[in-house]
Amino acid sequence: MKQSNFYITTPIYYPSGEPHMGHAYSSILADVFARFKRNDNCKVYFLTGTDEHGLKIQKAAEKAGSDPLIYCNKISKIFKDLTKTLNLSNDDFIRTTEKRHHESVNDLWSRLVKSGDIYLSKYEGWYSVSDEAYYNSDEIIEKNGKKYSTFSGSIVEWVEEESFFFRLSSWQKRLLEFYDKNDKFILPISRRNEVINFVKSGLKDLSVSRTSFTWGIKVPNNDKHIIYVWLDALTNYLSALNFPNTNDKLYKNFWPASLHVIGKDILRFHAIYWPAFLLAAKIKPPSRVFGHGWILSGEEKMSKSKGNILNPLEIINRYGIDELRYYLMKEVSHGSDGNISLKSLENCINSDLANNFGNLCQRVFSFVKNNCENKVTKTKNISSADKKLIEQTKGLTKDLRNLMNNQHLNNYIKSVVNISFLTNKYINDEEPWKLKKNNIEKMNNILHLALEQIAKISILLNPIIPQATTKVLEALKINVKSRNLLFLEGKKILPKDVRLSELNILFKKN
Ligand code: MSP
Repeated sequence: MKQSNFYITTPIYYPSGEPHMGHAYSSILADVFARFKRNDNCKVYFLTGTDEHGLKIQKAAEKAGSDPLIYCNKISKIFKDLTKTLNLSNDDFIRTTEKRHHESVNDLWSRLVKSGDIYLSKYEGWYSVSDEAYYNSDEIIEKNGKKYSTFSGSIVEWVEEESFFFRLSSWQKRLLEFYDKNDKFILPISRRNEVINFVKSGLKDLSVSRTSFTWGIKVPNNDKHIIYVWLDALTNYLSALNFPNTNDKLYKNFWPASLHVIGKDILRFHAIYWPAFLLAAKIKPPSRVFGHGWILSGEEKMSKSKGNILNPLEIINRYGIDELRYYLMKEVSHGSDGNISLKSLENCINSDLANNFGNLCQRVFSFVKNNCENKVTKTKNISSADKKLIEQTKGLTKDLRNLMNNQHLNNYIKSVVNISFLTNKYINDEEPWKLKKNNIEKMNNILHLALEQIAKISILLNPIIPQATTKVLEALKINVKSRNLLFLEGKKILPKDVRLSELNILFKKN
């Protein structure tokens, strides 16, 4: 089968405080897609990193009494360490303070100047430092003498300064044509509609430089202006592929990006500004932007400024990383918001992981150990119950690729958990323990099919719970190269004679 390439990114995180569950969520989601694609025989490049310039970071560094770069070195390292704790399979971690990124931003800027899309004028309007975003007057609301963005709820300030502008208004029609031609550029569909309506309502030119602070990349040949941090940040996706060297292997293999995973709060930047910058610079825009929902605590977005943070590290220490990954992926999906709590985390671990998949593995492995000395050989005889389970599994796996390729992770998980449920039921109905005395052949066939089912479920759940499923696949003695999705095309995973090694308890009940 021909290998295709898949370039996937998380947002690059502001190193302005401790990472929280929202950050963990964005990263794990992208990691699940990356791992799935690798298991599906794709060559994957998975990028994450930190977004270190701009007034927000300059202010955070000042508050910490630190030089901005020293401050960023420290916090960026915390985010980098988090990639290990979350068991991310990223191929690179980019920092926007790196030289490779400066070169890339300079080049993109020069392309925009060359195409005539940048001009000098004066900005007068609202700005939110917390969002690093400009807002129109009709997006502002006043509360207790202070002004806020109606979009994000962040405080805004009035800004008047000389600024370079990007001719965003002139891209309105071409953007709408672009969305029209690429109907899956923005997913989920509700977000796509939101973006299209915003663009249709009229785009104003975008201020792309600031003069009132210094922490950022300077406009080429103009020391007074700092490039707008979002133009700077978005370019990271190119920098990691060694842009502006468009002959570089990474760039050639992986641009345009296949999928930018982002939160819905930063959709405007990725779905409007980013393709407009790229089209203007004569660079192909990415194939897809997936805007996921928020992790909520009560009714509110979980965030540092709201002080309602569930600390991912504490949860991982107490419950385990696979447990957190599974819970977040199951709870918040399809791009809608998800309310998380310790209670629902524990319920989810107990019902899906411990009682369902974990129990399936444990009961089959223990039975084979205690009754068959860890060896199972199957014959050609297939019972009608075997056939039924095989057919039901086929039915449930039929659409899995499609679901994952359209970021319908929630339905994907539901189907896989259902396979595990049906396999548990098959064992209950077939009662292999009753066959030990007088029908060893049938008993072995049942166990063999149960193990084949466990192998399939493990491969399917591997992107979500890589640690536990790797233990199972190792105990089934399936080599790394065979842990892929070829069984969807009918390939058998296990040999006729299966030899098992020991499998310890996978998930603790709470
Ligand atoms: N630096 C920008 C991204 C630049 S990408 C070129 C940024 N950083 S962030 O650290 O504030 O947020 C990073 C990601 O975390 C965003 O996708 C954001 O949506 C996500 N989350 C932050 N809080 C969140 C929740 N409470 N829930 C889910 N994700 C949210 O934005």
